[in-house]
Amino acid sequence: MRLDRLLANMGYGTRTEVKKLCRERRIAVNGTIVTKSDAKVDEEHDTITLDGVPVLYEKYSYFMLNKPAGYISATEGNQPTVMDLIPEGIKGLFPCGRLDKDTTGLLLITNDGDLAHALLAPKNNVEKEYLVGTEKPVTEADVKRLAEGITIDGGVRCKPAECIVENEKTCRLILREGKFHEVKRMLEALDNRVVTLKRVRMKQLVLDETLAEGDYRPLTEEETALLKESE
Ligand code: URA
Repeated sequence: MRLDRLLANMGYGTRTEVKKLCRERRIAVNGTIVTKSDAKVDEEHDTITLDGVPVLYEKYSYFMLNKPAGYISATEGNQPTVMDLIPEGIKGLFPCGRLDKDTTGLLLITNDGDLAHALLAPKNNVEKEYLVGTEKPVTEADVKRLAEGITIDGGVRCKPAECIVENEKTCRLILREGKFHEVKRMLEALDNRVVTLKRVRMKQLVLDETLAEGDYRPLTEEETALLKESE
């Protein structure tokens, strides 16, 4: 791969900026200063440094974002997007799945299309857990209807969902699919309403509660492995 492409993909600047770094003699490959940014490197084996600090090459990047309300789950738009919160400059990042503008919590940001596809494909039944604040208490009868697979507006049948009542107006809802506005539509079908909605888990990836809303961090190797595990 070309050196400028590799460094640009990893968020070290545009190709023009990388060219400047080379001209300034700040980049070395295997200990030798490289002044030409179009030099070919072996990304798997070569040791590349910037100002003597190794550049760790990773094919894909994975971040956990604690999404705040007020941002749309898209890469562009005329409203603030979740990508505005990830100033990494890494090529090809996108949100894996959608949370509504007013929904908070766990959102995976990655450039690994295969993993995103596997996590979102309905046939894979990947669990998503939400903490739901409701207008009215969720009853035992509601829990049963959700467990059986509730029919929401338009006659759409949802997959069975587990609902754990936490207190009078809070429940935990575990879904194995991701229909548009699904949680809100489920609660409406129960003659109730979602007041607050926060995603706390996707598959085995649990939201890091030390992340303030709007903050993000890279996934650990263990977390990435959990997401990639086939069930
Ligand atoms: N269900 C919803 O209604 N909204 C979300 O953002 C996620 C699940």
